[in-house]
Parts: sequence; structure tokens; C-alpha cells
Amino acid sequence: MSYFKIDSLEQYFKHYNKSIREPRKFWGKIAEENFTWYQYWDKVVDFNMADAEVKWFVDAKVNITKNCIDRHLAKKGEKTAIIFEPNDPSEEALHISYNELYERVSKMANVLREQGISKGDRVCIYLPMIPELAVSVLACARIGAIHSVVFAGFSASAVASRINDSECKMVITSDGGYRGNKTIDLKGIIDDALENCPTVTSVLVAKRTNAEIKMKAGRDQWLAPLLDKAINNSVAEIMDAEDPLFILYTSGSTGKPKGMVHTTAGYMVYTAYTFKNVFNYEENDIFWCTADIGWITGHSYILYGPLLNGATTVIFEGIPSYPDFSRFWETIEKHKVTQFYTAPTAIRALAKENLSYVQKFPLKSLKVIGSVGEPINEEAWHWYNDHVGGKRCPVVDTWWQTETGGIMIAPLAFITPTKPTYATLPLPGIQPVLMDDKRNEIEGNQVDGSLCIKFPWPGIARTIWGDHQRYKDTYFSAFPGKYFTGDGALRDEVGYYRITGRVDDVVIVSGHNLGTAPIEDAINEHPAVAESAIVGFPHDIKGNALYGYVILKESGEYRDRDNLIKEINQHVSDHIGPIAKLDKIQFVTGLPKTRSGKIMRRILRKIAEGDYSNFGDITTLLNPEIVDEIVKGKIV
Ligand code: PRX
Repeated sequence: MSYFKIDSLEQYFKHYNKSIREPRKFWGKIAEENFTWYQYWDKVVDFNMADAEVKWFVDAKVNITKNCIDRHLAKKGEKTAIIFEPNDPSEEALHISYNELYERVSKMANVLREQGISKGDRVCIYLPMIPELAVSVLACARIGAIHSVVFAGFSASAVASRINDSECKMVITSDGGYRGNKTIDLKGIIDDALENCPTVTSVLVAKRTNAEIKMKAGRDQWLAPLLDKAINNSVAEIMDAEDPLFILYTSGSTGKPKGMVHTTAGYMVYTAYTFKNVFNYEENDIFWCTADIGWITGHSYILYGPLLNGATTVIFEGIPSYPDFSRFWETIEKHKVTQFYTAPTAIRALAKENLSYVQKFPLKSLKVIGSVGEPINEEAWHWYNDHVGGKRCPVVDTWWQTETGGIMIAPLAFITPTKPTYATLPLPGIQPVLMDDKRNEIEGNQVDGSLCIKFPWPGIARTIWGDHQRYKDTYFSAFPGKYFTGDGALRDEVGYYRITGRVDDVVIVSGHNLGTAPIEDAINEHPAVAESAIVGFPHDIKGNALYGYVILKESGEYRDRDNLIKEINQHVSDHIGPIAKLDKIQFVTGLPKTRSGKIMRRILRKIAEGDYSNFGDITTLLNPEIVDEIVKGKIV
């Protein structure tokens, strides 16, 4: 019996039970039958959750690009691996076959080797959504270099801190990027970032916009001539199962971003398996995930998951509103997309526009539509189901995280009955539990609590780059012996899960994970600011938006508050990126604090949400009178 593909609900329960009772047999068989290995494992899994130590396929040897590319060549070398849909729809789309992908990745791998990059070196990739991005990622994996893709919307200082944290040797970037009718000066941002990055010795620059840029002698080189000279054949590095494949930064509720480390074999097995089952992938499907490869969704479900299955995956450079609001639907029609995977924030934004944008297109090719990144509200779910899926396509609401590597809780298309706003059931191998405040597991159904996972799965991140203690503290200490997700969830009467949102100080804005602490740090660097506190509040399109309470140093001096708000947001934009800008800023003379000096964010959150009922016992605050002042000054 093969476990790789689930064909019915009954089989799902069978596989699920098997995966819990005999996880080693279950994953061992999947790994053995569906991938090529240089050497098999001694043990399927070895772990100690209390110490945050997890290893899968111990001592196995493998290269993920052999599995993404080489093994497909004999039978489907001419099949399209990647469809590149450019920002401007009048520019021709590119179809890159598996053969061509092999050649392009090989050339790039050879360029990297010639430039002195070898196994274990970190390479920062800061590129727009162009084929070079996919090729660079895969070329790193080919030679065992650890890729650290940084979303090309992050500011220079955000890129610099990520480069420095993982001590990258090289940056791969482009002369610029397109975003709707704007062009972005990516190379300029990298130049600024590299003023403060001593470990970077070389920069490779892809051409995209033909913008005039400065090239620093001895450091910067154009990529194209190097590729032209490179040979189109390459040997894949033999990687240990637990060698790091990549680092991807995600915001934490405190401190600097966390460089989540994913390793080779477990991530490979898990992304391939989840892609196949959640989206019910079949041989001739055309899969389109609209995320950016700079986020985990793009890593796992634009690149690795689809390519491991020999699928055709779409890389979309543009945005949903350019040239108009029918761009997604037009593109689905153009490439006959069968599975479409996007974020609730995009669905909400498009649902606000005239229905004719979507109704113009029959969208008959679609089979499955997916959602990821934040809770999908009932209205958005129905709009998506009715107008995009034509009530025929299952909506797979997929819950997972940068840390989990792949999808954890989701309906399996055509198998699990869906329920609006519910991510439904855990995938095989995933053992979710809900915990109460006293750290007890909550049994039974119709309950809610903090969502933890009590057994390791192959895709779990293994550590935070350079800081294992932080990894342990963040994920394995709140509920000892269990992985704590940071999310709250409820379980309904049949055992379906609904994710209710973060229970920590991370706010999900337009599907982007933003830690409040780094934003507060950025605001506090403004010379007029003494202290600040950021909370999230509900927003129609973004899901959540940011509300900042700011105490000024000398309030009298800065009379032009409008200007100050602009400056504060500019600081946030410069330090983190435009995605972290605040929607509302309220100047206050104090923040509600406990006697030990801790800001009572619960109260601030309620005020920002406009809920003035039941602040709890505020008499224990150091400064209870401030609550009234803040309520009166609330920005609406
Ligand atoms: O709060 C959950 C939310 O996004 C967080 C993870 O964010 P990130 O690491 O950026 O990864 C996003 C893409 C996988 C989670 O802790 N989240 C993600 N998917 C869902 C979700 N919340 C509700 N429903 C989802 N389907």
C-alpha cells in the first residue's frame, strides 16, 4: 500500500491513524517510494521535544534539486516546469521546460561555484518575481549553499540586518523590479544595505528594468555574461538529510527577526506530500500560487512542492490590480490554471471591486482554490467560493506557518467536506492539541485554546539561525514538550479546527506577519518619540491594521502633528518596509502599565478595536487614569 496519495475520506482516516500509531513506518514508506536518495536513513525520526531537537531521515543523503529537476528529465524533459507571467501582460509569458530549468540551474550553480560559493555558505537573494529568482534558489540548493531569500519589499536596513544575522557572503539582486506601474530600485536598496554588511564580498545583478545603476568595482557583476560563459551541466552536491536548505526570516513578537532554518530531507518530503494531497495535484495541472517567493508560501508552493511533483507552476511578477482588477482572473484564463492559491487580503480587496471584473471570465479550468496566511472571514470565503470557484471548486483554507515548512491543517480537495472559515482537519502526521492557560490539554470538541502540536513532523524548522536557545524558548517552553504555534484555535463538534488568530504580539497585516516590537523600536528612534505601543485592529481589507500609541518627548515642541505622523511612518518604512506602516497614530501622555512596568496591551487592543466594555480590573494599574484619556482621544 502506498501512502503518498489519499483518495477518499475513509482513506484519509486510515492514513491519519497509521501516521499517528506508526509515524516511522508511515513517513519512511513515503520517503522511500517517492524520492531519489544517494543513501537511505538509519532512523526515520529522532527527537526530543523538550530540548527542541528534531531530526528526520537521520544520516540519509540526498539533493533536493535532483528530486525537483533531474529525475523528471527522462520522462518529461519537455514539459513546462515554470510559466513566467510578467508584470505587464503585453510582454510575452515564458514557458520554461524541465530540460531548460536543468540547464539554467546548472549554469547558475556553476557561476556560484566559480564565484567561490560552496556548501554551507549563505547567499542572500533579493530579487523580484522573475525566473532568475527560482533559478538562484535552486542553484543554491544544487551546490549546498544555504539560500536566504529576502522579500524585495523590505527596506535597506531590514535587508542588512538579515544579511548580517546569517553572515551572507553574496547577494543576488537585479537592476530593479516592476510592481504595477511602478519600478523599484532594488540595486539602490542593496547598495545602501551593503554599507553595513562586512561579510558580503560579491553581488550578482540580473537585468530586468534596464535602469541605470551603479556597479561597484570588485564587488558587483552582471549575471548574464557570467551565465553565458557557464556550462549547462552540473553535479549536485551530496547533502546530509539534516544539512540546512535555507534560512527564512519571520517576525517575532520580540527582538530581531528570527532566521528559521529548514533542513533538506524532511522539508522535501513534507512539501511534496502536502502539495500533492491538499491541492489534489494531477499530472496535467497548472498550479498558480500568487505569493512571493520571499515568503514561505512561495518557497513551498511555488517552487519546491510543485517541482518535486513534476508540476507546472506559475511565477507571477505582477499585482492583482494591474493593469486592472481582472488581472488574476485573466491570467487564470490565459494559462488555464487548475489550482489557484492566494491570500484572504487579496480576495477581500478584489471582492470590493465591480463583479464584472471576475464575471468576464468563465474560469472553467479551475478545479481547486486555496487560501493562506490569515483567517478567511465568512464573507470573503463565500465570495471566493461563488465567484471564483463557481461553487464547483473546493476552497482549501490552509493553516500553517514559516516554521512548519508546509501545510498543517487543511481540507484535502475533493475529499474533506469544507466549512467556511474552518481549516478543518490536520494532515496525516500532524497532532494538534488545544491547551488551556494552566498548560493542560483540553480534550473533547466545541472547545478553544492555544494551538500546539505534540509530535514532530518532517517539515518543522529545526532551529533559529545562530540562536537555538531562542528557538527553544519561543516554541517549546510555553507548553513543555509541545510545539507552540502562537495561534489560538477552536475545535467544533466534529473535530474541525478554526484558527482564531495570534495569541502573542504578532499582528498579521495583509497576510504579512509583523512583530510589534521591531516596529515600536523603529518608532522610538524618531527624535520626538519617548515611547510607543503598537496593536492590531480589524480592517476590512487587510484583515488587521496597525494602531500606534505614541508618547512624545516634549509634546509642546512638535505642533505639526500631521507632519510628525508622516515622519514616524517614514521611519517605520525605512527600518522595516512600507508593509509595516501604521494606519492610525494616537499621541498619548502615558500608556497603561502594570506595577512591574509591563504595558497592558490587552487594554490598548480593546480601545483600538473600539470595544470599551470590560477592560478588566484596571485598579491594579500603575496609572489607571490614563485609560480614560486614551479612550477620549481615540482615532476613529
Ligand atoms: O496566525 C497564523 C496565520 O499566519 C501565521 C503564520 O504566518 P507566516 O509564518 O508568515 O506564514 C504564512 C503562510 C503560511 C499563523 O501563525 N495563518 C496562516 N494561515 C492561516 C492563518 N490563520 C488562519 N487561517 C489560515 N489559513
